[in-house]
Amino acid sequence: MTDDLIKVRVAAKELLAPDVASFTLVREDGGTLPPYAPGAHIDLHTPSGLVRQYSLYELDSASEGYRIGVLREAQSRGGSLSLFNDAQVGQTLHIGEPRNHFPLHADAAHSLLFAGGIGITPIVCMVRQLSAEGRDFALHYSGRSRQQMAFVEPLRQAAFADKVRIYADDEGGLEQLDLPAAIGAPSPDRHLYVCGPSGYMNHVLDAARRLGWLESRLHREYFSPAHDLEGEELPFELQVKGDPRIIQVLRGVTAVEALSQAGFEIPTSCAQGVCGTCITTVLEGVPDHRDSYFTDEERAKNDCFTPCCSRAKSRRLVIEL
Ligand code: FES
Repeated sequence: MTDDLIKVRVAAKELLAPDVASFTLVREDGGTLPPYAPGAHIDLHTPSGLVRQYSLYELDSASEGYRIGVLREAQSRGGSLSLFNDAQVGQTLHIGEPRNHFPLHADAAHSLLFAGGIGITPIVCMVRQLSAEGRDFALHYSGRSRQQMAFVEPLRQAAFADKVRIYADDEGGLEQLDLPAAIGAPSPDRHLYVCGPSGYMNHVLDAARRLGWLESRLHREYFSPAHDLEGEELPFELQVKGDPRIIQVLRGVTAVEALSQAGFEIPTSCAQGVCGTCITTVLEGVPDHRDSYFTDEERAKNDCFTPCCSRAKSRRLVIEL
């Protein structure tokens, strides 16, 4: 655990839906938490010891505390489940400062937002901001059932409720969400934002690409890998600029682990190629990108990679730390 983590106390825990809990986190020392913009998330050290990323969903609530929504996921690796079940009011937790890889774009004349399930948390913060600024937008919010969708009521009661469409699978939601019609034609001043389960996100992004949308207008925030991280793990070599040693990355060992054994510590958080914490500059060689963080355009540059999960297509990568 690093020194720059912030100690927070769980000030409130509230069920928003049967499997979604809201946590309000305040500074343990009584101070003010750092401000953030819509789309920001924090790294949170869960009671299980796993670090997970959670979007901040209230607009401008930094002075009162951060609010996050946590889904009880039986299938998860245990981070969110331990937070949902074990973290209680009064408990101390550790978080990182807010980071934002999913910001709103100020030049958008029209913003199109798609949220699936718990992916509504960054999006709800974004639409509140867009509404406060009087900007044009449309939100398409999908989930398994209305009962499981934590933000149906707040959105129905919002001043901008007429810009929100709700799709519940158990009401035939999948049939109702006509993606090509909802997405429409691309234009330079239209931006699309999507967050939710990776299958849902890929579905929305693929539909937009088929309609001719450019990657630069498509914005997404993954909280779980977009694809299976499994794959053939060929050994490769790493060399750190300025160090003559050649570091072997064997099958079953990540680049982060091999670098650590050689004395180079890379900060990590999700360890799944989702959060971007471990991004490392590549000077030579071709990475085998296995992350869900970079866009295709960013990957094609081959000038950085996520060593927590990515590997190499070339025999050796030369990196800079
Ligand atoms: S630690 Fe999250 S992308 Fe590598």
